[in-house]
Amino acid sequence: MPHISVILREGDEQAIEAPAGVTLMAALRDAGIDEIAALCGGCCSCATCHVHIAPDFLDRLPPMSDDENDLLDGTDSRDARSRLSCQVTITDALDGMTVTIADAD
Ligand code: FES
Repeated sequence: MPHISVILREGDEQAIEAPAGVTLMAALRDAGIDEIAALCGGCCSCATCHVHIAPDFLDRLPPMSDDENDLLDGTDSRDARSRLSCQVTITDALDGMTVTIADAD
């Protein structure tokens, strides 16, 4: 099962296991990381599941949709590593990835 390192807003790091086939958002929530509000439940309409992905894993993620891109544009902390975690499906290729929880808007 892929292992993901999660850096929380205060800088603490937490290791989680994320089953392939679930979304990164679901894996974070299932691990008890409540800094991911995921208010829309994964419908790509709230941006409260915003994370920053380690640069060396960005090209292993599914392409970003126009809806995800538009939502991220509405956040204050968007950068080149930004993704909505509900739009990222865990695969074995993501084993060892580090994600940082984005600041809350
Ligand atoms: S959970 Fe709402 S956009 Fe991801």
